[in-house]
Amino acid sequence: MPTIIEPFRIKSVEPIRMTTLEERQEALRKAHHNLFAIPSQDVMIDLLTDSGTGAMSSEQWAGVMRGDESYAGAPSWFRFRDTIEDITGISNILPTHQGRASERLLVEVMIGAGQGKGKIVPNNAHFDTTRANIEHSGCATIDLLTKEGQDPSADAPFKGNMDLVALEDLLKTRGDDVPFVMVTVTCNSIGGQPVSLENMRAVRALCDKYNKPFILDACRFAENAWFIKQREPGQQDRAVEDIAREQFDLCDGATISAKKDGMVNIGGVLLIRDPEQFIAASNLLILTEGFMTYGGLSGRDLEAMAVGFREVLCEDYLRYRIRSTEYLGEKLLEAGISIVRPAGGHAIYIDAADFCPHIPKEQFPGQALACALYESGGIRSCEIGSVMMGEHAHMELVRLAIPRRTYTQSHIDYVIEVILDLKNRASELVGYRITEEPPALRHFTAKFEQIAHANA
Ligand code: F0G
Repeated sequence: MPTIIEPFRIKSVEPIRMTTLEERQEALRKAHHNLFAIPSQDVMIDLLTDSGTGAMSSEQWAGVMRGDESYAGAPSWFRFRDTIEDITGISNILPTHQGRASERLLVEVMIGAGQGKGKIVPNNAHFDTTRANIEHSGCATIDLLTKEGQDPSADAPFKGNMDLVALEDLLKTRGDDVPFVMVTVTCNSIGGQPVSLENMRAVRALCDKYNKPFILDACRFAENAWFIKQREPGQQDRAVEDIAREQFDLCDGATISAKKDGMVNIGGVLLIRDPEQFIAASNLLILTEGFMTYGGLSGRDLEAMAVGFREVLCEDYLRYRIRSTEYLGEKLLEAGISIVRPAGGHAIYIDAADFCPHIPKEQFPGQALACALYESGGIRSCEIGSVMMGEHAHMELVRLAIPRRTYTQSHIDYVIEVILDLKNRASELVGYRITEEPPALRHFTAKFEQIAHANA
């Protein structure tokens, strides 16, 4: 394989404050061992999320200066609209402030606020905010992943695929209750795993057979298209734009958080082909977000998105992006650390239960590992296990999400060094108990304390 380097050079830098072990221990104490409560100035490498944390290009910053802040019909809106239409082929386009705003509008238009009782929306795996928005209407949600998608160690190329048999079964038995079918690319909840074109085509066919709209959660549509080009038989010679376009050709609408593959710090998109539903969504947008030509954003945000959505489809960028995530995964695997396999597009998920087997699930091994990564190296990650999911957690994972174009390979090598060092003294890690928690979404604000070693 030819050497892959970062396909950009750095024009503007943001200093990272180097902290000492004592400072980090103090920060952890003050934050009650909740990494969401740590000021980002005290973080050296922030892998909490890849959402809105990427670096914009010089062209995007030029767009920021060009931004026209007229209330209606600004040239920035037209540039944004033309770009999205060109990439997706869909002309019913609404800008929103982020993905979940698109989700809320979609639910209100396709299910109805508070009208979801008795209904159910299938997805390969719903992202948290998608699930929450759908369930907020009273509608149930169901994840229909294939068996291999549910097995973190199964090394399959398209673990995000929808279980087509289960989907047809649902449509056959409860068809009247299904307002739409959703597919999330890439599938964040199981490690940024891709969905194949073949699978999406089959979902389309089932939606046609049972007369259901097919909605794409397209937050990471470009990363998914790159995986298809690399892994799906017969796709190698196609331009990634073509593959991306086919993904959109297959669907009736899409929700997009532009904070991922839109390469911006804030922004979202809602696409709905059906003209009546599009008008209904436009009216709701005006009611709660802003006029149709800015949707709660500024003109400069629309310009940055217009440039970002094009840049993300650059093959040199995608090759580097996916390879740099894979590189981190590869080094951890070589050191015998278990991760969700294969490496996802935007993140590596460490199996914390395997990393510190002496810490039982009730004492939150993921929290223990995430806090230890911060304490020893100033690295902020995110627990995705029993703290976040409670009894619904199938696994105890720690996500290292990689912001786009933000860290160099040397930063990633540092992350690897810290994790390998920690692995050698994993038996020193201690479990946690929760001392205070809110009624819902506890991972954001819960307070923790360490449980002393039994033999200490
Ligand atoms: N869908 C998926 C697949 C996501 O990953 C996210 C956000 C959203 C929808 C919601 O978008 O944040 O712009 O409202 N994921 C972030 C993460 C928060 O850290 O994985 P949003």
